[in-house]
Amino acid sequence: MEEKFAEDFIFGGATAAFQVEGATSEDGRGPCCWDEYLKRPGSRFNGDMASDFYHKYKDDLELSQKFGINGIRISISWSRIIPQGKGAVNQLGINFYDRLIDECIQNNVEPFVTLHHFDTPLGLFEDGDWLNRETIDHFVAYAKVCFENFGDRVVKWATFNEPWSIAQNGYIIGNFPPNVQYDIPKAVQIMHNMMVAHAKVVELYKSMNLKGEIGIVHTLEGKCPISDKPEDKRAAYLDDMLANRFMLDACFKGKYDAETLQTVEEILTANDGSFKVFDGDMESLAAAAKHIDFLGMNYYSSHFLQAYDGESKIHHNGTGEKGTSIFALKGIGARVSNSAVETTDWDWPIYPQGMYEMLMRIKRDYPNYKKIYIAENGMGYKDDFEDGKIDDTPRIEYIKKHFSYILKAIADGVNVKGYYVWSLMDVLSWSNGYNKRYGLFYVDFNTQERYPKKSAYWFKKVAETKHLVS
Ligand code: NOJ
Repeated sequence: MEEKFAEDFIFGGATAAFQVEGATSEDGRGPCCWDEYLKRPGSRFNGDMASDFYHKYKDDLELSQKFGINGIRISISWSRIIPQGKGAVNQLGINFYDRLIDECIQNNVEPFVTLHHFDTPLGLFEDGDWLNRETIDHFVAYAKVCFENFGDRVVKWATFNEPWSIAQNGYIIGNFPPNVQYDIPKAVQIMHNMMVAHAKVVELYKSMNLKGEIGIVHTLEGKCPISDKPEDKRAAYLDDMLANRFMLDACFKGKYDAETLQTVEEILTANDGSFKVFDGDMESLAAAAKHIDFLGMNYYSSHFLQAYDGESKIHHNGTGEKGTSIFALKGIGARVSNSAVETTDWDWPIYPQGMYEMLMRIKRDYPNYKKIYIAENGMGYKDDFEDGKIDDTPRIEYIKKHFSYILKAIADGVNVKGYYVWSLMDVLSWSNGYNKRYGLFYVDFNTQERYPKKSAYWFKKVAETKHLVS
């Protein structure tokens, strides 16, 4: 096994606009779907302040540099750039990202910029979000503004972050806007529409002859049968199809394999629906698959599947009360706990070998992937703050195990070029608010002060030595 990361390996920290920026009504920003969603009756938190990155980004970048971090994932808030989602451009929004990008570069923290990280502008969201095909054209127009303004300095671009989470959480679990449950056909339709939007933006970027690279960030979850029974294997296969294979095929094969298409159609039939491919869609996917430069892979967990033939039934553990999750889908299977595998307080199995298996699979099944960035990995934890110190040893153990599987995958020939820990500092968690913490830097959300956790000191040693130190 490789013992050391390459000299040019990126040790980064990840953020997302809505989760860190705050300043939701400053400098002409328009509302996004999350502003509205988190202000619905009964909501326990909102994103108005978040981690106040809009005002504190200089401090955060200085801190990053001090801790050996040489890359940062940021996302652009579409509704800062184009407040209504379509139409007029907001120069103050452009100015903010100009300042932010320049500051990253000055601190030697390379920006990796995502165009869409869940925060669709409210107007477009209300008009049908990604179910409305016009959203695709508005997204391409917005991407063009970003490339024209920042493409001279930003060399790593991602079209989307985690389209699967948008589809699954918004239309199947129902804990993201628009808060719909069990509508698998709509989830598949928006995944397809987002894949077309992704493909068009890749083609636009390539036509502009800019100096950087463009890819997409997918969350990839291992799907393991809970037993050797053929019906449990089938459940794992079906869940994988929807969560992973459908969109990997679209991005890296430029088509849905016959087996993929047939299986997804079977799942949709079991759920009384279908999805529609429009004229020109498959041509767009095929063109972009030839040009995509990288896969951004978010990996947190894997699931264990059991056969299930009832109606869909889900309970989302949003409070960190261990063992309360239920997830069973009609026509697919049920995610169940595996007593041999530890979980986080939010019931996420800690299964680092799943990351290795996924990396090897990408190399085997999608040989044109070119390179992979681990665009997110990290552990949600209820950190204890004592006298300015935070001992988050379980987080260090979590990251260390994943690092060692990354080294193993590199030794086995997978081209992994960087790792961005989720998250750089504590951020707003979409469905859990502010006490599910992931950061290397602790944020006191009352004062907005930052405090390096034990994991930040450990991460610095790894980043500086390139060795997996203890
Ligand atoms: C992935 C998402 O990209 C990020 O926004 C989220 O907070 C983390 N997962 C943790 O759930």
